Amino acid sequence: MSEDTRLKIGVVGGGLMGHGIAYLFAAAGHRVGIYEPSPQVRSSMPRRLQSIVELLDDDPRLLQRIESHDMLAPAMREAAFVFEAAPEKLPLKQKIFAELEGAVAPTTVLASNSSAIPSTEIGRHLVHRERVVGTHFWNPPHLVPLVEVIQNEKTGDDVVRQTMELLRCAGKTPVHVRRDIPGFVGNRLQHAMKREAIALVAAGVCDAETIDTVVREGFGARTAVLGPMEQSDLVGLDLALDIAEVLYAHLDRTAGPHPFLRDKVRGGKLGMKTGEGLRTWTPEQAEAVRARLSRFLAEQARTRKRSSTGAGPAPGL
Ligand SMILES: NC(=O)c1ccc[n+]([C@@H]2O[C@H](COP(=O)([O-])OP(=O)(O)OC[C@H]3O[C@@H](n4cnc5c(N)ncnc54)[C@H](O)[C@@H]3O)[C@@H](O)[C@H]2O)c1
Repeated sequence: MSEDTRLKIGVVGGGLMGHGIAYLFAAAGHRVGIYEPSPQVRSSMPRRLQSIVELLDDDPRLLQRIESHDMLAPAMREAAFVFEAAPEKLPLKQKIFAELEGAVAPTTVLASNSSAIPSTEIGRHLVHRERVVGTHFWNPPHLVPLVEVIQNEKTGDDVVRQTMELLRCAGKTPVHVRRDIPGFVGNRLQHAMKREAIALVAAGVCDAETIDTVVREGFGARTAVLGPMEQSDLVGLDLALDIAEVLYAHLDRTAGPHPFLRDKVRGGKLGMKTGEGLRTWTPEQAEAVRARLSRFLAEQARTRKRSSTGAGPAPGL
């Protein structure tokens, strides 16, 4: 990337998502300033970033483009885009965006990585609301390609275009979500499936392990290369309709979270962190799942990098 196409990117919050987002933009050739108020989180940042370099077999010199700060304004200086990855609390995010408005140019794009809070609410009290946009990365953000770019009722079309272009040039797969609705697109799909899965286990149709096998070894085996819309077109919408006629009346329609899930949480069965959730876990089994996921995603990311054309940012960014 040439000097003149390099941008300054601001990242607010250097936790799980923030450090990966910072890495991604540094790897794409940009300068990155991270604001992270916690001294402990700041001091663990070099180690966490270094482990991504090793995982992806990248040039460690890219880390020289990342600076972390204990104050917002110096971290955001000259930023063309800011990605906020602070805790998921509306008042906190509103306060951060108000501070950002005083720290950056009126044209700087302000993007929130919130999982669920509409950016409409986060930016509600700002003067320049047209530059506020949702960018929903998936964990880990340096490995999972998708970023949902959510246009709220005030976001300018040009802000969406620029944000998608920046992400595309950083090797991501941005998609444009045209309405700022809860769960955006990805989490609505994911949780529609989880809702049915939990209801099946609660009804004793199968155990949780069987659900995982059915998804991973069944339709999941093709999902990475065949989305549900193209799959429906592939088999024919006449068949899709016949199945829907028979099946939909039987799908779970419990209002709100299923009592089975509520009982698990009430009983302290939270998953891997407590040794039991929908399945039971020893620490070794939990670690093996994390290692399997990380290895798989890293291998996919390395393959994408090898096959990428190395395109830089488009003119105008
Ligand atoms: N974890 C996920 O899988 C995931 C996925 C998509 C989106 N998100 C969203 O990303 C955001 C960050 O999540 P995370 O998992 O990285 O959380 P995290 O707790 O790992 O990181 C948040 C960081 O923000 C810092 N922080 C606290 N107060 C701050 C302030 N006033 N200004 C700046 N930073 C502050 C914390 O010290 C912490 O390091 C949330 O909105 C979350 O919903 C998370």
